[in-house]
Amino acid sequence: MQTRILTGITTTGTPHLGNYVGAIRPAIAASRRADVDAFFFMADYHALIKSDDATRIERSRLEIAATWLAAGLDPTRVTFYRQSDIPEIPELTWFLTCIASKGMLNRAHAYKAAVDRNAEAGEDPDAGVTAGLYMYPVLMAADILAFDAHKVPVGRDQIQHIEMARDLGQRFNHLHGREFFVLPEAQIEEQVATLPGLDGRKMSKSYDNTIPLFAGGKKRLREAIMRIVTDSRAPGESKDPGNSALFTIFRAFASESETDAFRRRLLDGLGWGEAKQVLYDRIETDVAPLRERYETFMADPAAIEVILQDGARKARAIATPKIAALREALGLRPMRTAPTPARGAGEPLKQSRAPRLASFRDADGHFRFRLFSAEGEELLLSVPFADPKAAGAMQKRLKSLGAAAAVVQERAQDMVLEIDGKAVANTPECPDVTARKLALSQLREALDQLAAQA
Ligand code: TRP
Repeated sequence: MQTRILTGITTTGTPHLGNYVGAIRPAIAASRRADVDAFFFMADYHALIKSDDATRIERSRLEIAATWLAAGLDPTRVTFYRQSDIPEIPELTWFLTCIASKGMLNRAHAYKAAVDRNAEAGEDPDAGVTAGLYMYPVLMAADILAFDAHKVPVGRDQIQHIEMARDLGQRFNHLHGREFFVLPEAQIEEQVATLPGLDGRKMSKSYDNTIPLFAGGKKRLREAIMRIVTDSRAPGESKDPGNSALFTIFRAFASESETDAFRRRLLDGLGWGEAKQVLYDRIETDVAPLRERYETFMADPAAIEVILQDGARKARAIATPKIAALREALGLRPMRTAPTPARGAGEPLKQSRAPRLASFRDADGHFRFRLFSAEGEELLLSVPFADPKAAGAMQKRLKSLGAAAAVVQERAQDMVLEIDGKAVANTPECPDVTARKLALSQLREALDQLAAQA
């Protein structure tokens, strides 16, 4: 099964070398793996929380899209879109807002930090705090839950947000009795080094110590590199590579053997001026072809627009039916049928025929079960379980799964239902497309009926 990886990029600012090494390059590498279904999007609604400068937002969206595309993101392979092109995201944000506890949001780091700063300054605790900042984690949860992402690669500062997304997803699933949402996990890239900036601290816009990735061309790249702070050892004196931002940046771009050679030259007394030239040449070798693509994209924003519109279409193909199922579950339904009487109000419900699960022991003494449709047709036969409790637990799981969360894989002769990436049951043989379509729609209907009863 493919793992769905989703990450958002807040569209404020211009990408620098630290973003490239720490986020863009590893994310694009991961997106090329066959077992990964990658979703990347520009979190431009989140950007509005941080900035009301329309020109800056517009420019940053364009620069970030062009950067990711130039760095090798393949929009035919990944789903690449703008948050603000997906109306399902703000709709889901509202659904989640209605179940988010205010106390949880009070504890969110970014909000708490703002309150603490106000307290220190003797201000009202909420001075200058917008409801947007307060709701940041709920919007982020909607970004993730709308697409059933399994893994969310983020920095450590974002772990709390992923936990809140899990919490909200779990709460919704629990309230509405089935697995509407996959519960996401944070993926922390331990091995990805944070790149030091010009002054040796972490490269970050807030420290004003960044080296631009593309902006300003190779001239600005070289100028920035020449400003990297070094110690005062003269040419000929041995340098300490372990203690040098310049060396750490070099290593982030070079192969192991190039890195060893550079280390040796520094130990042997290479002058800092020359070392900077070596670093510049090494980075430029990697960056020059990307910069050329970047400039082509920047000169043709309409081409990017087409790519993003296409990405929005792909993303909405998932989010639209998902929101429809949520609306249904929440009672926001078309007015076609008489409503179910509220609990306790009059007549008992008419018992309609329903799908059912039946357990049995197979010839080998293993425990299995079958799923039958309301009409009595066999839809699934489970894998064997050694332990009746495990078979029971799996039936319970199946009852609350719902069609939206069901992962069904095709095999040569039949189809397999997977839960948590493991094959759990298979359909009867259905060798042709028509039989498969029918079996799949019957299975989905039965799963939804089971979940509705659970
Ligand atoms: N908050 C994230 C950041 O500042 C950006 C973001 C928004 C995001 N929505 C997301 C990241 C969803 C991952 C998933 O880095």
